[in-house]
Amino acid sequence: MSRIVHVTGARPNFPKAAPVLAALRGRAEQVLVHTGQHYDDRLSRVFFDELDLPEPDLNLGAGSGSHAQQTAAVMIGLEQVFTERRPDLVVVYGDINSTLAAALVAAKLQIPVAHVEAGLRSFDLSMPEEVNRRVTDQLSDLLLVTSADAVGHLAREGVPAGRIHFVGNPMIDTLLRHLDRFDPAAARAEFGLPESYLVATLHRPANVDEPEAAGELVSVLHKAAERMPLVIPLHPRGRAGLQKAGLDSSSGVRLLDPLPYTGFLGLVRGAAAVLTDSGGVQEETSVLGVPCLTMRPNTERPVTITHGTNRLVGVDGVLTALDEVLAEPARPRPAPPEQRPPLWDGAAGPRIAQVILDWLAAR
Ligand code: UD1
Repeated sequence: MSRIVHVTGARPNFPKAAPVLAALRGRAEQVLVHTGQHYDDRLSRVFFDELDLPEPDLNLGAGSGSHAQQTAAVMIGLEQVFTERRPDLVVVYGDINSTLAAALVAAKLQIPVAHVEAGLRSFDLSMPEEVNRRVTDQLSDLLLVTSADAVGHLAREGVPAGRIHFVGNPMIDTLLRHLDRFDPAAARAEFGLPESYLVATLHRPANVDEPEAAGELVSVLHKAAERMPLVIPLHPRGRAGLQKAGLDSSSGVRLLDPLPYTGFLGLVRGAAAVLTDSGGVQEETSVLGVPCLTMRPNTERPVTITHGTNRLVGVDGVLTALDEVLAEPARPRPAPPEQRPPLWDGAAGPRIAQVILDWLAAR
């Protein structure tokens, strides 16, 4: 059997990796590495408890730091793992620093790389994720893409067509698999919410790191919370800055710790609308049929606008867009299958597994 090392490191990786590992079970020797980029139980442990993910075989404990420190710590740890285990293939997920670190180390050791969620582009190099995506894709042998636009981006960057496989979205496999557990009534009861409420998630450096940006954001969120209660499960990154900017000084705003997977998506499923700067949440709301207002100047996931519920509104445009969305007739929840983006059908994991196994067999 071929030996495959999967590299994960941060919260958004886990729901992407779970269906791929499941589909390869018994068909390849698998090693699951957790780089330790995220280490708080609420950003990591809870996903292993909820998502049928096996325990990581190794945790590198890389932790936080500057981009260089974090990327280097992951690289040093992975170099040893890859040298000792000599995998036939390394599988990397998404666009975090651990993804880039793994691709660099594998490429230098001449170990092939498969990138799950390849080809997304915001065309905004001020986002660290955009740097990670571009470099990872250049170094990957198998580019497994979630949406058709990604195929075009890769082709324009000179990636040979034979390396690119449109397989759908494994994070949506995980969402559809656990849909019955996303219970809005339970979420309302747990957090003491009325029938109508808003959810916000914020963690992008551009929104939360600089005091001026954080101040603007907080003022918009306070105004949104005048329409109906606004619940914010807060990523540790933004907590200090947003609180300093007065986020919790409005009676309409409820700050929560980061939530487990099913608890968070239960809350989202029942929300009148979601305000976010997350990539994954744009995708999840699209499939759940929940209006999503993205507080960024760009998105690497335009399929959530053309085939989903997403509107790109920046921070300035949130309130106008929110009033429009709240006045619209409700959409079906979840979105009917024919209204989802192509191949977001719950079978991306098996397709990815098949591409990988066929590719390994042909080598
Ligand atoms: C990372 C990813 C981002 C992804 C996000 C999802 C990069 C460049 N960014 O951003 O693409 O959308 O994860 O959550 O890889 N911290 C904790 N506990 C933890 C982890 C982090 O408190 O378990 C705090 C630390 O102060 C740390 C900061 O959050 O310095 C940032 O963590 P880091 O992993 O560097 O980036 P994220 O902002 O989480």
